[in-house]
Amino acid sequence: MMASKKEKVVFLCDECGYESPSWMGQCICGSWNTLKEMKLPEPEKSKKNHHGHRATTNEAMPTSIMDIRSSGVFERLDTGIHELNRVLGGGVVKGSLILISGEPGIGKSTIIIQAAANISKQYGKVLYVSGEESTEQIKLRGDRVKALHDNLFLVSETNVKKIEEHVEAIKPSFIIIDSIQTMFVPEVSSAPGSTGQVRECGNYMMRLGKTKNIPIFIVAHVTKSGDLAGPKIVEHLVDVVLHFTGERNQELRIIRANKNRYGTTSEIGAFEMKEEGLIEIEKASLNFIQGIDRVVEGSISTATYEGSRPIFMEVQGLSVGANPGFARRIAIGIDNQRLNMITAILEKKTGISFINKDIYVNVVGGLKLEGTFADLAIALALYSSIKNIPIPGDRFFAIGEIGLTGELRPLKNVDKIIGEAKRMGFEEVIMPFSNKESLSKTSSKIKIHGVRNLNEAIEILSKVKIQSCD
Ligand code: TYD
Ligand code: MG
Repeated sequence: MMASKKEKVVFLCDECGYESPSWMGQCICGSWNTLKEMKLPEPEKSKKNHHGHRATTNEAMPTSIMDIRSSGVFERLDTGIHELNRVLGGGVVKGSLILISGEPGIGKSTIIIQAAANISKQYGKVLYVSGEESTEQIKLRGDRVKALHDNLFLVSETNVKKIEEHVEAIKPSFIIIDSIQTMFVPEVSSAPGSTGQVRECGNYMMRLGKTKNIPIFIVAHVTKSGDLAGPKIVEHLVDVVLHFTGERNQELRIIRANKNRYGTTSEIGAFEMKEEGLIEIEKASLNFIQGIDRVVEGSISTATYEGSRPIFMEVQGLSVGANPGFARRIAIGIDNQRLNMITAILEKKTGISFINKDIYVNVVGGLKLEGTFADLAIALALYSSIKNIPIPGDRFFAIGEIGLTGELRPLKNVDKIIGEAKRMGFEEVIMPFSNKESLSKTSSKIKIHGVRNLNEAIEILSKVKIQSCD
């Protein structure tokens, strides 16, 4: 069939959604052979005025930045979920487009229906559009997580044009699209979930939300198999990108904002997945080292920040013999490059050869560590495994960033971590010397070993061995 006059042929990248007018072997994002031919509807052209310029209904003129009035305050809806509000920067901004991505089964539909029920209680009608589940299935979930309300409207629909009709009819104050990969724009010839459809549906929803000033939550699956176009394609056009992570067989779920036009991206929301839905963890600090009351080698406690909250966890290291040239480096919960760097520094500073050793490092509890606070703990966990040095995990922890020369670099905001550690019953900490200097006196109950480099830290670790064996 020939392309009708209202269609244009473009080439869309499967990886990044880039639109190219012609086919190229390599996309601008660097991926090869990812540009696929797509027929897209031609945008309606506005009529030219008598000067020959395009007339727009809402003509905006450039204005001096000093003349623009802005209160700096956005009108926000309270989702009734404190942890979600926090990640969003204080609630859902009116007219904003929010993408929530995560692996299937992680709990996206669950948190969304919980928020939807709360919003419908306070602000009126909410429209929940599902292309994945029947309305009966959604009701069952709503029942289970106690998210039922007269104002919560469900519809099973995948055609975006029909969704717009429903929006016109019920005039909701909040819309949920679950998920974007099941939706389609009729004018686009490709299948739902393809790059072209995901992109056009994203655009459609953005126009719908912005023109009617209704906030829209869009669910997007991240699949490892890559058979569905990923959420990356619409990330640039939405206002907020939330990412939902966790291990499916464990209860902890973390929501991070990867992008937020209305707030910081440094806050996280923490939840536990229970039968009755996602339960907020509102404690000031997150403690994932409960249950370490043993003294073993290759395991050490450490701390870092998740947003503005201290988070404590256990890092394990294991090093065993391997065939030279086939040594494995397995990092779970930390960046592989970071592990390689720490291993290289450890080798250089201690003389231990890792060429014929497998290395495994695991952050217990399915957490994914970002930042550099845990560098020292990773190095010490490995050293303790190799040298069989037992470490008392419940009363001893280590924090610090290691530089390439083995030096311990100063950390920001250690006060809060030390204060929290004291409350949790820790007795000793190894940390950068420069931070020890700046710590306030309140932390005097914890014995602070300020060290300048990795070798000094190892020396302290060896003394811990003597104490714990007394
Ligand atoms: P869901 O919100 O459907 O995930 P997503 O939308 O991200 O795909 O959450 C599914 C999870 O809910 C599932 O992994 C386990 C949990 N669950 C229960 O705890 N109890 C139940 O009875 C059901 C059906 C699911
Ligand atoms: Mg779902």
